Amino acid sequence: MIVVFIGPSGCGKGTQAEFLKNKKGYTHISTGDLLRSEQQAGTEIGCKVKEDIANGKLISDDIVLALVKKKLELLPKNGILFDGFPRTLKQAKALDLMLLDIKKEIGCVVDFSVTEDELYNRIKGRFMCIKCSRLYNDPNYMPKVKGVCDKCQSTEFKTRPDDTAEVLSKRLAWFKELVTPIREYYKQKNLLKTLDASQSILQVREEMVSFLRI
Ligand code: AP5
Ligand code: MG
Repeated sequence: MIVVFIGPSGCGKGTQAEFLKNKKGYTHISTGDLLRSEQQAGTEIGCKVKEDIANGKLISDDIVLALVKKKLELLPKNGILFDGFPRTLKQAKALDLMLLDIKKEIGCVVDFSVTEDELYNRIKGRFMCIKCSRLYNDPNYMPKVKGVCDKCQSTEFKTRPDDTAEVLSKRLAWFKELVTPIREYYKQKNLLKTLDASQSILQVREEMVSFLRI
């Protein structure tokens, strides 16, 4: 199935994506991760977007669509999960065309719903493994053994430079401005499912699994 996650920064898209990727074999396409990889590799695109990401600005549709297109050219065989994409109506329409080209279509759009206060809390505590990117939260979802990644046993962790209250408020403003037409677009297609993402990680996962019937 092709699944789309939409939801504000810090709502838990990446956390639930880990489950679909690791346990259900989905190909995880996160445009945020793709852009950060470009940055890390020091490519032309990476240099171009660095400042905008750090300041919580949206990246141009053209850049984002080119990165997604490149990923889809690898023709993932199993399910595909789009995380944080599409974020504009232009991206949503372009995604439909790209999927049409490979004879696929979206099966479900999961809309993560969480209060704004909770988003600030989650972003404040987010950190991740430097090696495998496994996500954690201080104090709510810490590694089982202090200082050691549950997944790859690395002992090094990092935070994201855009995870400050000031930048988060900008990211949330962008989201609020652009999400309504996207919700409407998928509602019309009868694909939209609203998920109560304020519950625990496990409860959110259970609700998501029941939506996706997997
Ligand atoms: P991106 O990386 O996509 O960031 P985002 O959408 O702001 O979302 P986040 O990754 O911050 O949050 P998340 O929902 O994944 O939450 P997570 O699971 O980590 O994009 C970054 C930037 O790239 C954008 O600002 C923009 O500049 C650019 N960009 C990306 N896509 C673009 C596009 N399509 N077009 C244009 N520009 C684009 O969880 C957060 C924390 O909460 C963690 O600590 C986690 O442990 C914890 N947590 C998770 N679930 C729960 C729970 N149920 N209860 C308690 N804690 C929880
Ligand atoms: Mg994420």
